[in-house]
Formats: sequence, C-alpha cells, structure tokens
Amino acid sequence: MNKPKHQLTRKERRSQIENCIKEDPSLSSRGIARICGGSHVTVLKIKEEMKNTGLIDQMNTSEETWRKHPYLKKNPRILENLSEHGKRAIKADGVLDMMEAKKLKSPVYAQRLIFKEAKAARNNLYVELGEDACTLFVADIKQGLPQVNDNSVDLLLTDAPYDRGSVPLFVDLGRVANRVLRKGGVLLCMVGQSYLPDQISQLSKHLKYHWTLACITPHGSPFLYKKRLTTGWKPILMFVKSEYTGDMAYDIVRAPIEISEKEVPPHTQPIEVVEKLSENPENMVDDLVYAPADKAEKELLRHAQPLQVFETLIERFSRPGDCVLDVFCGSGTTAVAALKKKRKVIACDKDENRVEMTRKRIEKEVGIDVKSI
Ligand SMILES: C[S@@+](CC[C@H](N)C(=O)[O-])C[C@H]1O[C@@H](n2cnc3c(N)ncnc32)[C@H](O)[C@@H]1O
Repeated sequence: MNKPKHQLTRKERRSQIENCIKEDPSLSSRGIARICGGSHVTVLKIKEEMKNTGLIDQMNTSEETWRKHPYLKKNPRILENLSEHGKRAIKADGVLDMMEAKKLKSPVYAQRLIFKEAKAARNNLYVELGEDACTLFVADIKQGLPQVNDNSVDLLLTDAPYDRGSVPLFVDLGRVANRVLRKGGVLLCMVGQSYLPDQISQLSKHLKYHWTLACITPHGSPFLYKKRLTTGWKPILMFVKSEYTGDMAYDIVRAPIEISEKEVPPHTQPIEVVEKLSENPENMVDDLVYAPADKAEKELLRHAQPLQVFETLIERFSRPGDCVLDVFCGSGTTAVAALKKKRKVIACDKDENRVEMTRKRIEKEVGIDVKSI
C-alpha cells in the first residue's frame, strides 16, 4: 500500500524519488519533489548520483549541454528575443525535450506544461484510504471539536456561514484550526465580502493571514441592492499555522491555461501582464478557481458550493492521503470532493440533518461507508 508522503522513511522516499527519475528523467527536480516529497535540492543530488553511477543518461541540463539539443539546432531562432524569464526556462530540466515533443516556441510555456504534468502525476498517485477514510459527527465549533486530535489535519477547507451573527464563530474557527492543523497546515475558508475585515481580524487572533484567493462565479452574479453592486466572485481566506511550506503561491489572479482568453472574465489580468510578472511558473499555484454552471449541488442545499471548486482547492493545497477537515460541512461538498481526490476526511456540522445529508451524499457519490463518532 502507498503510504502518505509524510509517513515515508528516508529510505522509502529516496527509492520513490529514484523510481520517479527512472520513469521520466525529463521531469524537473521541483516536479519530482512535489510528487515524492522532500526538497528539490535532495532530488538534484540524487539525480547527480544516478548520472554519475550510470543509472540514468546524462541529460541536457547543464549550461554546456543544453545548447547542443537537436531541437535548438533545428530551430536556432528560438533563442532570439527571449525574455529573461525565457532564458532561464530554456535551461531547465526537460524544457527543450518538451518543446521538441510539442513543437513549441516558448520555453516558458513548455515549463508550465512540465509543471502541470508533474502536478497531475502527483494527484494520480495511487493511495488506498483504508477503513477510517471518512469520519462524520454532529458538533458545534464553539465547543472546540475535541473529537479531532491535535496536529492531525493537513487542510481545513470550509465554507463558513455568511451572516453577520456568525462573525464571532471565526474566533472559534481560528482557535480550532490552530490546534488541529499540523505545522504549516492551511485553513481555506470561503466567505462573503460583507464582513471580511471582521472575519480576517477574528481569524488572525490564532492563525497567520496568508492570502485571499478568488473564486470566480461567472454563472452566479447576485445583485447586492444595499451595496449597489453585483458580484461575480467570492473570497477564499487562506490562513496558515506557522509558515506556509506548500507549493509556492502566486500573487496574480489568472485564468487556467485551458480557458481561452476570450472566456476570461474582465476581472482577470491581461495575459501579457501575467507573462511579465510570473517569475516562477514551474512553482505556481493558481489563485483563481472557476465554478462550473452546475446546479446539482444547489438542489441539495441552497448554500451548497460547486464540487469542482473544492476539488481544485484540495488538489492545490493537499496531497493524496492527507487529512482534510470541514467544520461547517452543510451538504458535504468538501467531504465528497476530498474523498474523490483520495484524501481522508473529517467533517461535522452543528445541524444533524446536514450531517445526515453529507453521509447519504458520500455513500451515493463516493460509495464508501462512513464512520460515525
Ligand atoms: C454555508 S453552509 C456550508 C455549505 C456547504 N459548503 C455545502 O456545500 O453544502 C454553513 C454551515 O455551517 C453550519 N454551522 C453554522 N453554525 C455552526 C456552528 N456553530 N458549528 C458548526 N456548524 C455550524 C450550518 O449548519 C451550515 O450547514
């Protein structure tokens, strides 16, 4: 059985890294580090050792050898007018191979594709969740959730109540998150815009503010008559216990590559700005999530959120085998998304009908038995 990344011994991690390098030597060291855990420096060292002992071929990675790549020989004009960013990218592991395979002209774009593939490989790692895959219970967050162990959660992903009366709950949320998250663990909390300053200040009493992500909701733009505004996005507050050590978060909101520029809503930065400002595309985590026009969840509960948004957040901020907690589970969107993405789940809500709704939904949509406590 594949163990979660953080439970691997040094020896097991090294052998996983070696296998990953052997399987695809063109993967970048950072990409491999993301898949297997550990730092890219460790991966680089292992790669070097493998090259020196002949376990893998010397690759076109060094300053002297990348220029001899056959694709560059055939297309020498690629080097003309390269930005600083492009000049760095073209020397990176596997970039010229990717350019050759996909007949690309932009090393930056090739590097992005390598990153995407590494991320997909990471998320496709086979993980068996075991019998304790999902735990559900009824609980009011004000009681501190003693059912959840200290330092046991990798990601707390939740959609908190939106009304003014619930703002004080954010102190409880911060306190619980600070206790149950492991060091470096992340709280992502979807909120409305109305009470944002208060919610941020309440959460900041126990956790460190890290970022605000945007969830673009192109198909739901409610009119806020009192505010004289219509809205097409929702903030997702990102708080961290101690320092954030996951994938590098990128400070520009941008559309995913699959979405053509035409489809990008007006809130998004023009692509040239993104290109210019993106320093480390191979490490980027998008801070924009697109919600599909899916009404299925709304039929379950008026406040239900689109499953795909939560799947995306889970893939970005946790790994297969990690533990994901939702303390305001409602109809169970986080729980279903996390289980589908092979994360363990703990979910609760103060409303027992909603916990029951979550249980039924998990059994129907994921097909597993749920443990109750
Ligand atoms: C915005 S809804 C969550 C909707 C959910 N994301 C979904 O997709 O169905 C907020 C949930 O918080 C729960 N809640 C409100 N106050 C709570 C408290 N003090 N402790 C635990 N849950 C609470 C409500 O019962 C409600 O189900």
